[in-house]
Amino acid sequence: MSIKFDVKIKLLWKPVNTDNCEEEYFIPSKNKPLYIVCINNGNYIVYDAVVRDPQAMEEIRKLEEKLYDFIVGEKSLVDLLDSIQDTRLKHIIERQFIGYGVLEAFLLDPNIINAHIMANKPIQVIHRVHGKMETNITLSLEDVKELALRLAARAGKPLSEALPLASFIEPRYEARVTVIYSSDITMRRDIVVDVRKQPEKPWTILKLIHYGSLSIEEAAFLWLMVKYKVPVIIVGEIMTGKTTLATALASLIPPDARVLTAEDAPEFRIPTLYWTRTMTREFGEHKVTFFDLIKSGVRLSVDYIIVGEIRGEEAREWAHSILLGHGAITTFHAESPESALLRLLSPPISVDPQVIALLNVFVKTNVIERTPGKKVFRHEVYTIEGGRTTPLYIYDPLTDKIIQNPDVKNPIYDLRFIERIVLAHRVSREMLHVEYQAMRKALEEAYMEALSKDPLLETPDYMEIPVILYSKLSKYITLMHSTTSQK
Ligand SMILES: Nc1ncnc2c1ncn2[C@@H]1O[C@H](COP(=O)(O)OP(=O)(O)OP(=O)(O)O)[C@@H](O)[C@H]1O
Ligand SMILES: [Mg+2]
Repeated sequence: MSIKFDVKIKLLWKPVNTDNCEEEYFIPSKNKPLYIVCINNGNYIVYDAVVRDPQAMEEIRKLEEKLYDFIVGEKSLVDLLDSIQDTRLKHIIERQFIGYGVLEAFLLDPNIINAHIMANKPIQVIHRVHGKMETNITLSLEDVKELALRLAARAGKPLSEALPLASFIEPRYEARVTVIYSSDITMRRDIVVDVRKQPEKPWTILKLIHYGSLSIEEAAFLWLMVKYKVPVIIVGEIMTGKTTLATALASLIPPDARVLTAEDAPEFRIPTLYWTRTMTREFGEHKVTFFDLIKSGVRLSVDYIIVGEIRGEEAREWAHSILLGHGAITTFHAESPESALLRLLSPPISVDPQVIALLNVFVKTNVIERTPGKKVFRHEVYTIEGGRTTPLYIYDPLTDKIIQNPDVKNPIYDLRFIERIVLAHRVSREMLHVEYQAMRKALEEAYMEALSKDPLLETPDYMEIPVILYSKLSKYITLMHSTTSQK
């Protein structure tokens, strides 16, 4: 005798209090929605679009009758999925048996930046517009464990009671997942899964300008620094847009430069042809550390070494690469440029003080709550020379804009470290000043062109930016030189 048990399809039901939503939207689109999201009273409520469709619900009931044979019996799930026409039903079956269950809703919603999942508590998300929100979904300890194991298995990472800490990139959505698995270290009561999504397309420098995170003058200054390989250190607290900014700045590297990136998870995307992407190997016998990766970058004679996050002993190898003249864009988790420098100088990092003298340009990333629940990213530039900090491009809360520090008349003439560029590249300050002006114009023109084509600045694509900007730059430099020679 065989016992046949019910295999239920798990649906996200429409909660009763969702008839008067402050905002309602559909994922992925209104024509073919899989999910409906209702924002109400600061809560994020999500449910399956099919629950509003009686015909689809009838189909689900029929599917449930057949499920046993496919899930437990002889037939394969692939056959079942092939036989379903309705993409909504297909998605629901997939997410339950081979996908990430309810997490799929958050992964598919482009407004969700982060989901924080703990057992028996409403899942908390960070929404791009509304900030932190409680959701209508709560998972049991068993459900969260299963979700964590599926995520780790997909990424090929070990996760168990014996190895309860894991941080990896889930390959399908390229989301960054951090897990503390239920084990002795959480007294077997708790588990936490934190999922951080990456934007589908990297933010371009033009988009950062558009949303007021950088001013055009500031972006032009940073471009000049990046072009002339002055190390740029991005400091800021957690989730303040450091990696996004580092990626955007990487598009200011000359298109023919050789770039090596070193990270512990694949976040960077670099729009140059000669890009070597490397990652640390944390598990197994043959570990590869940041130190090893940076060292090979130096040996490969690349022009730029971009490091995901400077934390430990790798900083010394990184410092060495700067001494050798490699360009550097680096993120550093710190609350200010000074505290970043202090940490770099002190044990266990202890970089050579000679290198500290070369670390002059810092971008401080800030997230500011302008109106309750609405956050904006505003990034400032500071320079440090001989132990003295000068704010260069600063946030003005009155106008909500980044402005140039009025005490610095002309950064290209006033800053001492610019002399290093003059000596290393055999250019004059006048030429650099012309180039800085040309960069401003090139950025302005690229921005205005992009805005006229698409108000959301989704185009041009990140990968196209270096070619666009550098061709505009050479046009303006030629133009400016010819006008000065005519005078
Ligand atoms: N300028 C910006 N405007 C609006 N949203 C942004 C901006 N920069 C980043 N974000 C969003 O904020 C989130 C965090 O960004 P990012 O990963 O770059 O931060 P981070 O400082 O590197 O975080 P961590 O400290 O964890 O490394 C991302 O979802 C990103 O899309
Ligand atoms: Mg980061």
